[in-house]
Amino acid sequence: MKHTEKILVTSLKGGVGKSTVSAALAAAFAGSGSRVLLCDLDFRARSLELMLGASERTAFNLCDLMTGVCDAGAVLVTVPVQAGLLLFCPAPDEDAFGGEEGPSLDDVPSAIADLAKAVEADVVILDTGAESATPGVLCRDYAETVLIVSEQSRTSIRAAEITAGKLTRINENLDVRLVINDFDVKLANKKARAGLLEVIDDAAVRCVGVIPHDDSIPLIADSGILPTFGPVAAAAENTARRIKGENVPLFKGVGNLRRKIRF
Ligand SMILES: Nc1ncnc2c1ncn2[C@@H]1O[C@H](COP(=O)(O)OP(=O)(O)OP(=O)(O)O)[C@@H](O)[C@H]1O
Ligand SMILES: [Mg+2]
Repeated sequence: MKHTEKILVTSLKGGVGKSTVSAALAAAFAGSGSRVLLCDLDFRARSLELMLGASERTAFNLCDLMTGVCDAGAVLVTVPVQAGLLLFCPAPDEDAFGGEEGPSLDDVPSAIADLAKAVEADVVILDTGAESATPGVLCRDYAETVLIVSEQSRTSIRAAEITAGKLTRINENLDVRLVINDFDVKLANKKARAGLLEVIDDAAVRCVGVIPHDDSIPLIADSGILPTFGPVAAAAENTARRIKGENVPLFKGVGNLRRKIRF
C-alpha cells in the first residue's frame, strides 16, 4: 500500500511560524512532485487560506465535509505549484465543533484520513493553532511525524520543550522533530538571541530544519504568495528532503548562512 507522510506542525506558543512553515513545506514537497494535502486545523484563527491566496476560492470547510454538506472534490482548493499538486482544505470556526448538531473534534483524524485516501496524497501537512486539544487528538489518532516550531526566543524554546513532552506522553511512537524558524544569525552571533546549539539543546528535540529570517516573508504572505524561491523556500526544501530520509546539509542553498554561523 502507498505510504503517506503524515506531518503535524505545532507549538503551544503563538506566532512562531507554524503556518509559514506548513505552507513553505507544502510548497517544497509539491515542488518535488508529491501530491500534498495541506489542512488548516487552526480552528480559532485560521490563516492559511490568506497565505495561499485561496480565500476567494474557499467555499466549504472541513466541517462541511464531515457533516456531508459537501464532498472531497468541493472542499479542496487547488493551489498552483510548479511540478506538483497542492490541495488545500480550509478550516471551520471552532464553534462548528461540539454541541448537538456539530461533529466532534475526535472525528477529525478519520475525516483527514478519508480525505487523504480520496486524493491519494503522498504527504499530509496539518497546521494547528497554539492550543493543545487539536494537536493532541491528531497525535493520538493520526499523525506520525510532529514538527515543533520554535524561534530563538526563550519563551518559544520553552514552549517547544513543553509541547514535545505533552505530545510524546499522548503517543510515544511519534517522530517528534524541531524546526527552528525565523533564525537570525546576526542576533545569534551578537548573543542577543539563542544560537542554534542552544535552541536545540534547550528544546531537547532533534532538529530537522532551520528556516532563516527573511524580511520578505510577512509581505509575500499578506499578498497570498507561497515562498517558492529564496532562503525560506530553500530551507523548507532541505527540511522536506530530510523528512523523507535524505541527508541534506543544514544550509544547502541558503545563501552564505553557513559561513556566518559561530557555534
Ligand atoms: N522565517 C521567517 N522570516 C520572517 N518572518 C517570518 C518567518 N516565519 C514567520 N514569519 C512571520 O511571523 C509572523 C507569524 O507567522 P505565522 O503566522 O506563520 O505563525 P503561527 O505560529 O502560525 O501563528 P499563530 O499561532 O497565530 O497560528 C507572520 O507575520 C509571518 O510572516
Ligand atoms: Mg498559524
